[in-house]
Amino acid sequence: MYGVSLAATLIAKKRGLDPEIAAMAAMLHDLYAYKAESYDDHAHKGADLAREILGELKLTDEVETDMICSAIYHHDDKLVTDGPMDEALKDADVIDHCLKDESKDVKEKEQARFDNLCEEFGL
Ligand SMILES: [Fe+2]
Repeated sequence: MYGVSLAATLIAKKRGLDPEIAAMAAMLHDLYAYKAESYDDHAHKGADLAREILGELKLTDEVETDMICSAIYHHDDKLVTDGPMDEALKDADVIDHCLKDESKDVKEKEQARFDNLCEEFGL
């Protein structure tokens, strides 16, 4: 999650989004999957878990919490376009998947998004 968080920070800064909110969304985005040891519906269930955690932490206001939970909820929908922060988390996830082990092929559902990111960041 640290790699996704770093990528999310970079993307948010480039796109004029709040990098701290992007980083928080990224740090929480797969927590449900780790806790449940399953990726089944982890994005939707992870949004609920993140809302619980953020409610306890009281570090974010309602708008920030909604933004983080929305990004987590949508992060597995790589083939559709959602809001700017949702897209920042999806793209950060794709950067992490594609760059942390370049011996692996880019997943088909992530290829177009990765191509767009390479163009956006001049890679
Ligand atoms: Fe995920």
